[in-house]
Amino acid sequence: MEENLLVKINKSSNYLKKVTNDFAPEIGIILGSGLGSLADDIDQVYSVDYSEIPYFPVSTVEGHDGRLIFGYISGKRVVAMKGRFHFYEGYSMKEVTFPVRVMKFLGIKVLIVSNASGGVNPDFRVSDIMLIRDHINFFPEHPLRGKNFEELGPRFPEMSEAYSQQLRDLFKQIANEEGISLQEGVYVGMQGPTFETPAEYGMVRVLGGDAVGMSTVPEVIVARHMGLPVLGLSVVTDLGGPDIKVTVSHEEVLEAASKAEPHLRKLVVKFIERIQL
Ligand code: HPA
Repeated sequence: MEENLLVKINKSSNYLKKVTNDFAPEIGIILGSGLGSLADDIDQVYSVDYSEIPYFPVSTVEGHDGRLIFGYISGKRVVAMKGRFHFYEGYSMKEVTFPVRVMKFLGIKVLIVSNASGGVNPDFRVSDIMLIRDHINFFPEHPLRGKNFEELGPRFPEMSEAYSQQLRDLFKQIANEEGISLQEGVYVGMQGPTFETPAEYGMVRVLGGDAVGMSTVPEVIVARHMGLPVLGLSVVTDLGGPDIKVTVSHEEVLEAASKAEPHLRKLVVKFIERIQL
């Protein structure tokens, strides 16, 4: 993939421009667990299966389907990924992050990412929504390893504001106005696919994390490499710690995420309405 990365991004994005009549989305959204139904708030204009897009990987996990939805939310043009690619599925980091690069080439100005996570902050409860303030990259492979394409971004990107302060302030303001409670914290990205052992949840806490999950960090790194501001949202679907015997399952994660979903959905719709691009 390495040598032809730029060519591939161009071919993918040109294909999408063609089949969407140059729709030119302003906002990219990665619909993780807890935000999938936001797709229903999109006034859909085009839907493109990942399998039709040149060089796009295809999603394999239960509960995630694979298509790009183009349309309007609150009058703004969005493109949403229904289904994302996880490192634990066996995709390379270049594949995991490829769609973010394509969305940038389509013209997005902001990226909104969501996920499900295990909470390690003792103040957290199942189905809490956590605004991601920062992350810790604990993946064993870095998406920017290898040849750097200056056309995408610098060799050594700075990460002082991985999650835009301005976007976080706006989101908090909206949550406040809507009377929806919001946690804020640090998301630790680990490769999975095992959930953590009690000792590992304990480690995440000691390291400075509030929640742990298996996605998001690679996509955010690649977005920041290209200078895209990011809003990150996480639904806490289970709680872990050194003294908690964790028996969480994928089904429980999906169920806890779906409880938070109506709230998260509402906040994101209002956020998109209010965001200045
Ligand atoms: N750990 C890692 N990933 C997760 C978790 C967790 O506890 N919950 C949801 N995704």
